[in-house]
Amino acid sequence: MVNPSVGATSQWSCPSNIALVKYWGKKIGEQQIPANPSISWSLSDLKTTTRVTIKDSGNFGFEFVLDGKAKPSFEPKLHEFFQRIMSYCPWLESVSLRIESSNNFPHGTGIASSAAGLGALACCLVDLETPMAESLDWQKVSFLARLGSGSACRSMFSKPAVWGESTAVEGSSDLYAVEMQGSIHSSFSNWEDCVLIVDAGEKVVSSTQGHSLLSNHPYAAARFEVASANLSTLVSILREGNVAEFIKIVESEALQLHAMMQTSIPYYLLMRPNTLAIIEAVWKFRAETGLPLCFTLDAGANVHLLYKCEKKVDVMNFVESHLLTYCESGRYLCSSIGGAPIRITNE
Ligand code: PMV
Repeated sequence: MVNPSVGATSQWSCPSNIALVKYWGKKIGEQQIPANPSISWSLSDLKTTTRVTIKDSGNFGFEFVLDGKAKPSFEPKLHEFFQRIMSYCPWLESVSLRIESSNNFPHGTGIASSAAGLGALACCLVDLETPMAESLDWQKVSFLARLGSGSACRSMFSKPAVWGESTAVEGSSDLYAVEMQGSIHSSFSNWEDCVLIVDAGEKVVSSTQGHSLLSNHPYAAARFEVASANLSTLVSILREGNVAEFIKIVESEALQLHAMMQTSIPYYLLMRPNTLAIIEAVWKFRAETGLPLCFTLDAGANVHLLYKCEKKVDVMNFVESHLLTYCESGRYLCSSIGGAPIRITNE
């Protein structure tokens, strides 16, 4: 590890990710440790690009700019992140940073950018402290990203990423994500995610608040057990190629995530009527066509449709003819599954 000097700079893009088995709830009294293991796919076409430049030496400080504009509303979360990682990157104590970020997806789409954003920032920090390294220390990148936003630690890998200890995944850890080892069945190569934008507004309850409501939740213990079991089953499914079983777990996970929100105290809803209308339309379409299209949700009203690329024409016809009516301003965004952070050089 070196102390980067004034003027040193690093720029990375990092994909977002969508969980197949959800992280919802943290271990009480610990820092960003998940209550159950989770697994995700990265979304290579929904990404954040971030440049970090060492502006000055002296005391720690930073300025944050999103799409060329200062964003004071992001500063508290970033302050907390830097406090948490300072002891792992002690050189930060005596530098001030300029952080310039941009997302390649539009604002106000209700798509969480924190995973891609914290992922890209962690890449830049590890790159700055190890400028001569041939490749980044991905374990450290994931470890740091986790301290900014839990799900961000899973954005570093093009294969499915597992975060949280599980006997089903060798080397898995609560502290960082690992890439699923070994071969994945060809039934699960070349998938896509089409995110249907149901509600582009701010969420009524943030993820941070949502996680904390699990600490006093009547069904938390059962949920954590089911999630761990679902993770083990899904890992086998990804190896063996049973798409019908994949769909059952992925859709059940999405509905369980929202069921936990709806049964928290206080309870709340992030689904909208159009979220449900889309889910029912997907089930009807699948029953009528036999096409393996499934949905998942993150902590919001938008619906992620997952399907194999080779079915794209059929799926997009269905989206255009039946689902656009449920999307805010008819909007949706598609991404390939997979993808990892990329270093951006100016040449
Ligand atoms: O990383 P956070 O704290 O924003 O939590 C995200 C949780 C979900 O997106 C709902 C699920 C997951 O595993 O990504």
